[in-house]
Amino acid sequence: MSSIKVRKICCIGAGYVGGPTMSVIADKCPEIEVKVVDINKERITAWNDTDLNKLPIFEPGLDQIISRTRGRNLFFSSEMEKAISDSDMIFISVNTPTKTKGLGAGQASDLSWVEASARQVAKFAKGHTIVIEKSTLPVRTAQAIKEILNTTNRENQKNEISKTFSVLSNPEFLAEGTAISDLENPDRVLIGGEDPIAINALVNIYLNWVSREKIICTNLWSSELSKLAANAFLAQRISSINSISAFCEATGADIQEVAKAIGTDKRIGNQFLCAGPGFGGSCFKKDILNLVYLSGYFGLPEVANYWNQVVLLNTWQQDRIYKIVLEKLFGTVNGKNIAILGFAFKANTNDTRESPAIRIASDLLEEGALLSIYDPKVSFERVQEDFEEFSFDNQGIWKMANSIPDALKEVDAVLILTDWEEFFGLDWNYLASLMRVPAWIFDTRSVVNRQEIENTGLNLWKLGERS
Ligand code: UDX
Ligand code: ADP
Repeated sequence: MSSIKVRKICCIGAGYVGGPTMSVIADKCPEIEVKVVDINKERITAWNDTDLNKLPIFEPGLDQIISRTRGRNLFFSSEMEKAISDSDMIFISVNTPTKTKGLGAGQASDLSWVEASARQVAKFAKGHTIVIEKSTLPVRTAQAIKEILNTTNRENQKNEISKTFSVLSNPEFLAEGTAISDLENPDRVLIGGEDPIAINALVNIYLNWVSREKIICTNLWSSELSKLAANAFLAQRISSINSISAFCEATGADIQEVAKAIGTDKRIGNQFLCAGPGFGGSCFKKDILNLVYLSGYFGLPEVANYWNQVVLLNTWQQDRIYKIVLEKLFGTVNGKNIAILGFAFKANTNDTRESPAIRIASDLLEEGALLSIYDPKVSFERVQEDFEEFSFDNQGIWKMANSIPDALKEVDAVLILTDWEEFFGLDWNYLASLMRVPAWIFDTRSVVNRQEIENTGLNLWKLGERS
């Protein structure tokens, strides 16, 4: 089989997936030049900032990789045309949010950004180019990309410009907060495609640090569907444990004990069994809704209903938490001070997309609560943007706090929504002295110790435990 030696890679999209993934490829393959391009100039400027604390994405270990690769063989740029035309391999890693308008609104993925990227590739690429879907996409999107590339190809042939493309699917399974270790030591690398030469070129890149047994090659459609199915299975597990958390509160069973007991069964496994305020992040909800939409499209309404229930349960869990806070605070939070500890959708990231905190906090604001929000990595601007879609009719007001004690001053309640390391082992004796009496702690992430809290005289509600 003839082979292609990849010398230059371009990635369209410098986001949570494109940025870290390309940094690791550049780190592991010093002989390859990697260029990450984005239409968002501010984002590119932030990726090029000499102060590594100002990178647009917080991921443990990312700053070290950037410091050894940036300017060596890793470059962030807004010059799309040159980056595309120079490259042998192009990753498409742009956003694919749920459609808000038109056919499939609320469920189907909006592919405008993918389509725009494919058109840019079709226009600027030279010679033979391997085009790789990295973003999670609906099954059969590769077909659309192929059609865009091939139509332009026919136009080019008429004008005697010769360019050819191979399209591969290579979904990314990294989780935020552990992106670098997931990329450096993946459970598997999935490559879907038809052109063995292109597949081989991509396999060879991964072989720089991933063993051959971990690289799975499939057809395009299996690869696309596997990514959606993996996320749906993971999200389903969270909705399952969250449904049991409500059961525990009703019966007196303890969710930690139940999770441990069922997790010791090898067939079930002990990971992804932490009950919480519901899953957030850019992928789970979007991908399940996409699966629901596609199931309907392919005439499988029972399949669509099955998966839709995972999303409904997730929203229910968030509503349930907000209603419990309300109920414990005598049915009203109007004018009451509440501290929110954690706004990111999970620990170790500054990402708040679909964070349960957005819905729970905005419901409390709607009821007139006065919120002081503390998160070690989420900025004021990010929270402001997240609240933009809500207009609070009531007088709810929010502010960001600089520290945990600052957030807890004079509050009637503390609501723990993210499992940041620094929220474990706090000095609750001291913190209780800052709060009003009687004050409540609502712990949705099993962060605090019941005995310790009860010794301070604070009231405690813990998810998955009977109060
Ligand atoms: C997920 C997938 O894990 C990853 O493979 C895919 O590439 C992208 O989507 P991510 O959303 O970054 O990654 O984080 P993940 O760790 O999966 O957590 C998602 C949400 O589920 C978070 O809100 C998290 O707090 C929640 N979660 C996770 C739980 O509530 N309980 C758990 O046991 C695990
Ligand atoms: P993900 O979590 O999938 O990485 P992000 O929203 O973090 O998603 O990142 C996607 C990036 O793709 C954004 O920075 C966005 O500006 C960029 N992008 C979208 N469309 C294009 C395009 N046509 N050309 C270049 N960059 C694009």
